[in-house]
Amino acid sequence: MKPFWLPDTTGFSYREGKLFCEDASLEGIAERFGTPTYVYSRKALEKAYREYDDAFSGHPHEILYSVKACSNLAVIRVLANLGAGFDIVSGGELLRVEAAGGDLSKVTYSGVGKTDAEIRLALEKGIHCFNIESVSELDDIARIASELGKRAPVAVRVNPNVDAKTHPYISTGLKKNKFGVSYEETPALYRKAASLPSIEVIGIDCHIGSQITQLDPFGHAADKVLDVVEQLAADGIRLRHIDFGGGLGVCYKDEVPPEKAAFARVILDRLSSRGYGDLAVELEPGRSMVANAGVLLMRVIRCKAGEMKNFCIVDAAMNDMGRPMFYESWMGIVPACPRDGKGVTYDVVGPICESGDWLGRDRELNVLPGDLLAMTSAGAYGMTMSSNYNSRPRAAEVLVDGSSAFCVRRREEPSDLWRGESVPEELK
Ligand code: LLP
Repeated sequence: MKPFWLPDTTGFSYREGKLFCEDASLEGIAERFGTPTYVYSRKALEKAYREYDDAFSGHPHEILYSVKACSNLAVIRVLANLGAGFDIVSGGELLRVEAAGGDLSKVTYSGVGKTDAEIRLALEKGIHCFNIESVSELDDIARIASELGKRAPVAVRVNPNVDAKTHPYISTGLKKNKFGVSYEETPALYRKAASLPSIEVIGIDCHIGSQITQLDPFGHAADKVLDVVEQLAADGIRLRHIDFGGGLGVCYKDEVPPEKAAFARVILDRLSSRGYGDLAVELEPGRSMVANAGVLLMRVIRCKAGEMKNFCIVDAAMNDMGRPMFYESWMGIVPACPRDGKGVTYDVVGPICESGDWLGRDRELNVLPGDLLAMTSAGAYGMTMSSNYNSRPRAAEVLVDGSSAFCVRRREEPSDLWRGESVPEELK
């Protein structure tokens, strides 16, 4: 039988014709927990973290897992246990990290729209750093910190105007993007920050985008950020850390992302050659920590021959995994228990009433109703971007550790969907 290609074999492999996550078969997981279900491998999560940690070993660094990629408490805890810090973009993510038992003194807060309530919460919880994205945000943080009698630790997120050469929706370091403070305005903002008694300037930050599979954009961004560091030093502003934002892209199909060690070299070589070897490095990787540590397990409901296409209709849909619809992303789809024989070319689609509800196009599959399929590389930006569209309960999440499989989020019940809604008496 033709072996099915898997993007990363750390957590998932075929054994005697069945797909396993570590030592647990996906067939067994589907029987126990139902479908659709996200399945994560603890071993793969830990490996990804250690690869970053090792790549920067010998230099002071913090790996701040970007919670938006996959925010399940158990996933956060696996990484917290290894010493990870966290990159958050909302009060909700901050409370998630706390609920998971993460170290809040290793939390960095990014995002253009932090509200007063969120700023207050983060100050009360004593986070590591606010990545400031505008002058008015600095004013708000300074005001709230002063009300609370605290000093807010801050870095300015510089927009280096570098093309990350990725999908336009996930490019963030260009002038036309809403993120960060322009390269030209940054030194003045730092001078202002340094003059405010309730603000403590501790670092500098940039993030140019996601799913970046070349090193050049990271190098260009680092050069530009170091230019700013140099100007700040001339103004007498000394920093402790430099945060380079998100991590590397991953292999979904045929992308060849650079090794983490090569990525680290691009950054560390620049720091030492420009005389900033003492600046701690911070990174906010999300996708590369979890994408290939997770699959979305789903069952075929039925197959349908259309006039122009064949459709394989599965019980997962765009509400469970939005990446194909949002970005036209190619996601691998493989059988969990492959059948012998030639397949048929299908569009794999969900039950939602939109033509945008597709998960994979033109895939050769030999499947029958009831068969299990796994969408590979689904660990990042899968569950966190899911919704209840069409009143579909959200999927379960399972964490595998060796041969043990733990339900780390129960499948929603239909009644969970209208919890919080009510019909006014006047309408009854
Ligand atoms: N730091 C900041 C400030 C970010 O905005 C992001 C991602 C990250 C770190 C993590 O970047 P990563 O290591 O994952 O590349 N939903 C999209 C991806 C959106 C990324 C947004 N920001 C997708 O499914 O491709």
